[in-house]
Amino acid sequence: MLRLAIALSLVLPALCQTAPTSFVLVGDSTTANGTTPNSGGWGNGFCGSTVTSTPSSLAPGTPCINTAHNGATTGSFVADGFWDISLAAIRGEVAKGRRTLVTIQFGHNDMKIAPPESMGQNLTMMVQQIRALKAEPVLVTSLTRRDFNNDGTINDSLGPWADQTILISQQQNTHLLDLHAASITYVEAIGPDPAHRLNRTPDDNTHLNNNGTIVFGRMVADLMNASFPNQLPIIANPALTFNITHGIPSF
Ligand SMILES: *[C@@H]1O[C@H](CO)[C@@H](O)[C@H](O)[C@H]1NC(C)=O
Ligand SMILES: *[C@@H]1O[C@H](CO)[C@@H](O)[C@H](O)[C@H]1NC(C)=O
Ligand SMILES: *[C@@H]1O[C@H](CO)[C@@H](O)[C@H](O)[C@H]1NC(C)=O
Ligand SMILES: *[C@@H]1O[C@H](CO)[C@@H](O)[C@H](O)[C@H]1NC(C)=O
Ligand SMILES: *[C@@H]1O[C@H](CO)[C@@H](O)[C@H](O)[C@H]1NC(C)=O
Ligand SMILES: *[C@@H]1O[C@H](CO)[C@@H](O)[C@H](O)[C@H]1NC(C)=O
Repeated sequence: MLRLAIALSLVLPALCQTAPTSFVLVGDSTTANGTTPNSGGWGNGFCGSTVTSTPSSLAPGTPCINTAHNGATTGSFVADGFWDISLAAIRGEVAKGRRTLVTIQFGHNDMKIAPPESMGQNLTMMVQQIRALKAEPVLVTSLTRRDFNNDGTINDSLGPWADQTILISQQQNTHLLDLHAASITYVEAIGPDPAHRLNRTPDDNTHLNNNGTIVFGRMVADLMNASFPNQLPIIANPALTFNITHGIPSF
């Protein structure tokens, strides 16, 4: 009986899908596909990774192509040819008849070279090119750095870039995952020591270790499901979601 219930709970959501869904990820190192242990961004926890032994947040067989690149700004991503790789991946998924969702998350490096509006113009261009290929852009605000003030709040330098991403999502009428706000809420709730345990190295407040990719990959999966309720092949992880939504450290 239990076995049947489990089987049905796995099969029913799949039957409700109108078309198979694919994901393509675009962004910087905080999204990127880490290919050594304790590297990569939330994309590893979202797509899953055999290299970093990170379970996927998606139903088995769901294509998830992580084209994010370390150090990228919206400008360098295009200039260095990574955007062409993203576009090729998007074209390939759409050509297979799949509903193709493309996440775009920048800001960490853009903030070092130009005002938010420059990133905003480039995000707008990306959104329009994704739509021209009949795929769906999903804007994502920057994952927070785990940089705390003495009073336990986050010393946030990415706010204006998150706000710009939100503005473009409104102007272009795209889905938005406010990862910046959700990640600040969570790390402020768990506090500095548990938050820093998710760092790639103790003093690296930007990049993630394997545990960090699991936590923030789940956070993105849950934000994605909230934005597209029950439309996507996302697997539930109730225990981890409970920890995230109740401010409990998992690691
Ligand atoms: C990450 O890179 C590895 C090695 O190139 C590749 O096998 C894997 O498919 C990539 N993962 C994603 C999610 O794109
Ligand atoms: C946006 O793209 C332009 C090139 O089209 C580039 O000059 C500019 O630096 C980019 N902005 C950022 C923040 O990368
Ligand atoms: C907050 O971050 C800024 C750089 O963005 C830095 O100059 C400042 O020292 C930081 N404050 C604390 C309390 O760490
Ligand atoms: C997705 O969201 C819906 C609506 O809130 C919820 O009922 C469902 O359990 C969620 N699915 C997953 C996989 O978290
Ligand atoms: C949730 O947090 C508890 C307490 O820290 C931990 O024991 C448990 O492993 C966490 N669960 C998941 C799925 O991360
Ligand atoms: C991840 O969490 C597990 C369980 O708490 C722990 O044993 C491991 O050392 C952590 N990994 C890192 C890189 O901190």
